[in-house]
Amino acid sequence: MNAKTEYCENVHAIEGGAAVEIIDQTLLPNSLTYVTLRTLDECYDAIARLQVRGAPAIGIFAGYAFAALAHRAPDDSFAAFKTYMSHVHDRLVSARPTAVNLAWALDRMMGIVDAQSKENAIAICCALDEEAQMIQREDVAMCHSISEYGLSLLKDGMGIITHCNAGPLATSRYGTGLGPLLLGTERGMHFKVFSDETRPLLQGARLTTYELEKAGVDVTLICDNMASLVMDRMSIGACLVGCDRVAANGDVANKIGTSGLAIIAAHYHVPLYVMCPSSTIDMTCASGADIPIELRNGDEIKTMFYNAPTAPDAVPCYNPSFDITDHSLVSAIVTERGICRPPYSESLRGLAEKK
Ligand code: MRU
Repeated sequence: MNAKTEYCENVHAIEGGAAVEIIDQTLLPNSLTYVTLRTLDECYDAIARLQVRGAPAIGIFAGYAFAALAHRAPDDSFAAFKTYMSHVHDRLVSARPTAVNLAWALDRMMGIVDAQSKENAIAICCALDEEAQMIQREDVAMCHSISEYGLSLLKDGMGIITHCNAGPLATSRYGTGLGPLLLGTERGMHFKVFSDETRPLLQGARLTTYELEKAGVDVTLICDNMASLVMDRMSIGACLVGCDRVAANGDVANKIGTSGLAIIAAHYHVPLYVMCPSSTIDMTCASGADIPIELRNGDEIKTMFYNAPTAPDAVPCYNPSFDITDHSLVSAIVTERGICRPPYSESLRGLAEKK
């Protein structure tokens, strides 16, 4: 795979902007299938079912979905259009609560609608199409910049552990958490990467190993509970992860299991680097305690990937999709505007003021 081209359009507008086409990530790695979404229910389900997933990709998709639904909105009056688009905003925002990029992108799109003072359906749709494309273009540039900064923290030959999937499928082009690995590999560097499988939805097994293997990166799959032994025995130099929301104090929400990995990494003195666009930093959340954690259906743990249930039918499951890594366990937060180091309450504020 050439990281520069293969996934740069894993979300894009079709049918003159009135529909969105995505890779159905639930079918990977066994089938590379594109699906077309046209209705609000289909767009909502695509986010909720993780057909499109990863914080930046959800934001990009939401931008295109919002624009597509504007093309299909009732055209009785400007007031009715605005009311409908506000409903679209609120429904899509509710599809997943943790990744702040979803609300960030939809607020941006709603801002375009709110800024229109008169009825001109064609002009409004054009402005929305352009804004959605802009969100995606910005993400391409952000991923490249994050990858460059991230690569400056790594050394040729390094052993790396990554959790979940923060690659091209979750973003645009290079990705965030996987970006330095793809960029470094393009430049002839070698990394020995261990990918946590990432229970229960297996984004590490299904998506990260798929992306890294195709890009020619040396990747080995491990179960989540093997990270400690791997750090003890395999000369690991860094843990690289993406994230869904960073609080003002540097606490990080990312895929369930990240905080456990961070605790293990601290024990072995392995740095944990969190890579994310600055749009993932939410200064309105003082700490991780303010970040909502998505709870998902227990079937994902017990039945989804198995021929027979792995636990008695009546056993309840607790299935939080994300956890909070305390800022004290994070060695650096790498954004497109630079690398933030502790104390994060100062470095993140400085970054926000640079806007
Ligand atoms: O539930 P998912 O698959 O959307 O979770 C994705 C993650 O946790 C990623 O690490 C995060 O969104 C960053 S993607 C660049």
